[in-house]
Amino acid sequence: MAAKLISTGFRHTTLPENYVRPLSDRPRLSQVSQLEDFPLIDISSTDRSRLVQQIHQACARFGFFQVINHGVRKATIDEMVSVAHEFFGMSMDEKMKLYSDDPTKTPRLSTSFNVKEEEVNNWRDYLRLHCYPIDKYVHEWPSNPPSFKEVVSKYCREVRELGFTIEELISESLGLEKDYMKNVLGEQGQHMAVNYYPPCPEPELTYGLPAHTDPNALTILLQDATVCGLQILIDGHWFAINPRPDAFVINIGDQLQALSNGVYKSVWHRAVTNTEKPRLSIASFMCPDNGAVISPAKPLWEAKEEEAKPIYRDYTYAEYYKKFWSRNLDQEHCLENFLND
Ligand code: OGA
Ligand code: NI
Repeated sequence: MAAKLISTGFRHTTLPENYVRPLSDRPRLSQVSQLEDFPLIDISSTDRSRLVQQIHQACARFGFFQVINHGVRKATIDEMVSVAHEFFGMSMDEKMKLYSDDPTKTPRLSTSFNVKEEEVNNWRDYLRLHCYPIDKYVHEWPSNPPSFKEVVSKYCREVRELGFTIEELISESLGLEKDYMKNVLGEQGQHMAVNYYPPCPEPELTYGLPAHTDPNALTILLQDATVCGLQILIDGHWFAINPRPDAFVINIGDQLQALSNGVYKSVWHRAVTNTEKPRLSIASFMCPDNGAVISPAKPLWEAKEEEAKPIYRDYTYAEYYKKFWSRNLDQEHCLENFLND
């Protein structure tokens, strides 16, 4: 069923039928807990060995962590958030100029996840952009609001630096050379999803985004400072990751799980809705070059006991990405298709 944008300003009093999940697949919000020991990492710390150890523990246990003192300026973030709100607040006529339900098209303003393929839709609108190299893509970005291109370019540049800093820490935390990930991932792409979840009349019946793992290498998420919605699956239980205004949420994508030979986890996560307020989240995805060959880092298995082997087979990111988009979002972990026998 085709759905069109839901950020219309109209407040539904009941959930339209095409968003209602079957009983067996609902958020069960009363069973979600707070994650008390969710890692909060100050990445400006000069105690490198402690920092690297914190990263290791966070990536191995949760696949998710928050960073503060991350180097992305507050003004850059504030401007990005306000231009995103302005964008979704534009008239329907203006927004529909950018609308597409073709998942291969960028930039595109769309809704749900993959509307043409899904049986049940998700309570989300999103703007998807390619952001690297900026000069190649900026001309195709929205020209309204008028400050959009300038504000988003600045944000993308600063976030990319943060991404590289974290990739270095992740490499070191696996006992690899500092530049290991950067070298393997090649000329990394950068994609952005500006997610907008309008208030939802019946949050118990639907998702903003259903459970998924991210197919890329690393995700840098800016959460709405005041509205909760992100949840992660740990030991079979859903936990809420409540926002901290000064922090980014970082998560390991499928490619870093493969490169770490499964030591680090690309964890299931989802976004739920609420009745009160719209929620904005801005996800920046660091993506391997299409031709990058992903294979479990040799030092992580080669020197180990005889039976130790790479869990995953070698593949290119292009091959992985194609497989990812040929599935439903909430099917099996996509990496299971790339296991060694
Ligand atoms: C995503 C995602 C979570 C959120 O865009 O991949 O997981 O809180 N977003 O919006
Ligand atoms: Ni995600």
